[in-house]
Amino acid sequence: MTRPVSVGLDGVVAADTMLSDVDGQRGRLVVRGHGLSGLLARHDFEGVVALLFKDLLPAPASPQTWAGALGAAREAVFTQGQAGGAHDLALPPIDAIRALIARQSDGDDLDTALRLVAAPAVFTAAWLRRSRGQEPVAPDASLGHAADTLRMAGLTGGPAEARTLDAYLVTVADHGLNASTFASRVVASTQAGLTSSVLAAISALKGPLHGGAPGPVLDMLDAIGPAERAEAWITAALDRGERLMGFGHRIYRVRDPRADALKHALATLTAASPDARTHLERAQAIETIARRLLKAHRPDRALDTNVEFYTALLLDALGFPRETFTCVFAMGRVAGWIAHAREQVLTGRLIRPQSRYVGPEAGGTITA
Ligand code: ACO
Repeated sequence: MTRPVSVGLDGVVAADTMLSDVDGQRGRLVVRGHGLSGLLARHDFEGVVALLFKDLLPAPASPQTWAGALGAAREAVFTQGQAGGAHDLALPPIDAIRALIARQSDGDDLDTALRLVAAPAVFTAAWLRRSRGQEPVAPDASLGHAADTLRMAGLTGGPAEARTLDAYLVTVADHGLNASTFASRVVASTQAGLTSSVLAAISALKGPLHGGAPGPVLDMLDAIGPAERAEAWITAALDRGERLMGFGHRIYRVRDPRADALKHALATLTAASPDARTHLERAQAIETIARRLLKAHRPDRALDTNVEFYTALLLDALGFPRETFTCVFAMGRVAGWIAHAREQVLTGRLIRPQSRYVGPEAGGTITA
């Protein structure tokens, strides 16, 4: 019997989830019953970790809070990473954090989960220090996750910057069955363990069609230069058949709501700096031109701004170098990967789709 093939699994529903819903027609993201603006208003990153892990993992033992437990996990991961991490930290940053996370033991318990949430932050900060010829700095478990990440990384870490990074981590923590989350669930469905799921997810995240896009967004903005050059530059890129980084999405047929959440966080952070405001205004002018040209280029396909456009601007404003942007994305999304992996183990079954064979029939003549 010939069955239809869904290349790219477009429109295929592969899991029931309590975690998040992406409404691509209305441009809405819901995480555990909270719209994105409500989530940002009510929860910091630790709160979102607690929300996502609810009923899937036990809460930290009393009297430890989620913030305290995550702080302790950062310390544990740092101590472990100190032994033998120097070689791995010489790799490109996303490969470095993947290699260091691969050293974590596999398990399905809260301790493993918290160490995995802590690890991308601890190792990205250590990579940043090493790239400047400095020694990694130990975590401070009394600080919030975002504030401590900036401190360990040696970036300007005032309350405004910490709030901005925290808002970013909350915004990207979970987003339906995206490629990396699906990878996490596939591995979880074999009951391999949370570390294995997170490693698969990081590998899916690093590609430029997924979490590898924000670095190239900045490259594109640099290549364009002043907004007056955007029309000619973008037209030429589209004529060459290139994709504009930071635009388009598999699910959203309207603007990605995360783009506006990050734009708002960035505008708040940079309000007092005339230079930063000018920079943001230039990017917004280029965005407007890009959206218009994409509409003319593909009137049949709604191509609008996605989360990565403002991710690039926001992480740049916080001082993260562009080669670490995907690692910072992983710092937030790791919470969703783990929650989905646990949900898959508890409620799903082995994920094993089929392929359609289009090769030669058996019994063909071998000529070489
Ligand atoms: N610029 C120019 N053209 C585009 C863009 C873009 N950003 N996005 C899609 N198109 C075109 C494609 O070339 C394709 O044309 P074709 O049918 O002639 O081949 C058509 O629109 C549909 O493209 P698809 O690949 O089917 O779109 P899909 O929804 O599968 O892809 C994706 C989504 C991968 C995000 C795509 O829009 C893209 O490559 N964007 C640029 C990279 C990017 O920003 N990635 C981050 C995504 S957000 C995230 O993962 C967190």
